[in-house]
Amino acid sequence: MQKPLLKLLTNPVPPPIPPIWLMRQAGRYLPEYCALRSKAGGFLNLCYSPEMAEEVTLQPIRRYGFDAAILFADILLLPQALGQKLWFDTGNGPRLTPISSGDMLNPDDAAIHLAPVMQTLDRLTRSLPAETTLIGFAGAPWTVASYMVAGRSTPDQEPARWLAINDKPAFQSIIDKLVAASIDYLAAQIKAGAEIVQLFESWAGSLQGADFEHWCITPVMQIIEGLRAQGLKQPVICFPRGACHDMGDYVARTKCQILGLDSAMDRHDICEKVSEEIVLQGNLDPQCLVAGGAILDAAVEAILRDFEGRRFVFNLGHGVVPQTPPKHVAQLVRRVRQTR
Ligand code: CP3
Repeated sequence: MQKPLLKLLTNPVPPPIPPIWLMRQAGRYLPEYCALRSKAGGFLNLCYSPEMAEEVTLQPIRRYGFDAAILFADILLLPQALGQKLWFDTGNGPRLTPISSGDMLNPDDAAIHLAPVMQTLDRLTRSLPAETTLIGFAGAPWTVASYMVAGRSTPDQEPARWLAINDKPAFQSIIDKLVAASIDYLAAQIKAGAEIVQLFESWAGSLQGADFEHWCITPVMQIIEGLRAQGLKQPVICFPRGACHDMGDYVARTKCQILGLDSAMDRHDICEKVSEEIVLQGNLDPQCLVAGGAILDAAVEAILRDFEGRRFVFNLGHGVVPQTPPKHVAQLVRRVRQTR
């Protein structure tokens, strides 16, 4: 039997039941995740231990039988592999020593640094159920650079926008190093067993027009081209969260196979603008998953109705939030898989 998610990509006819997985399906809403993280002594220890990262990736698959497992890691492991200092302050999110030029990055030891991630994937190819698709990922360069320049999460990516405007060659040198390193990183993930890769562009919403084209579309296009140039044909999911750009143009130029939609994107508008060759993914509001009950059922129903006749992957519009009751996730999976 072909895996449902991979079958969706090769079959032009949408299946009666869409495949389902969730961004951040592994994480703090699961008690078994919290227990292992405290045993590991921190989030990064989990990411760099192939045994524990494998276990955390499998936790939501055991509970819910999702159609895909996403590698447990983080988009900020790549800057760390390029020599930037990274740590996680509990409660304050990620911290990095800020950089202002690509000259401060060194790709020489990146592959060695990231070898544990490949071991996690390799283990998962053997431990996942036969029907589960394995997804690898990286951050898109603009999003990753926004953390590298600011050294932390920022609401509007002001430090990166400032550098892009005031010293464009310096910012370009960071983006160029990220493009090259992301091609190598994703190619290695695919060789280690990832069957699909997702590029997380979480901060697409802070740019528009020519800036969006230059810093969001071009680098993502170069990464996908770089993978194809190596003969790697695995599907790529792009998730440009908050983008106000025309999504028809975005998919045509990046040449992604799956488009991830955030919860604010208008499903009717997207269905009109994006070619039917493209598989859509999304876009339940994570807050509906916190609410559960009739609110969740109605939101799921609306998505199934709006995407009827389209090939799509059921997912959230952003990651599962820590306050989500695990039983609401079970309710969601049951509802999506219930024959209509
Ligand atoms: O289950 C999965 O989705 C796979 C693992 C995964 C994580 N981060 C684990 C994680 C993935 C795909 C990511 C992507 C990621 N990381 C993004 C893009 C998606 C998005 O959320 O917009 C970004 C921006 C990051 C950077 C990052 N990592 C931030 C800003 C934070 C702090 C915020 C938070 O949610 O705590 C993290 C930490 C992080 N990454 C956690 C997990 C499970 C929580 C760490 C903990 O256990 O305390």
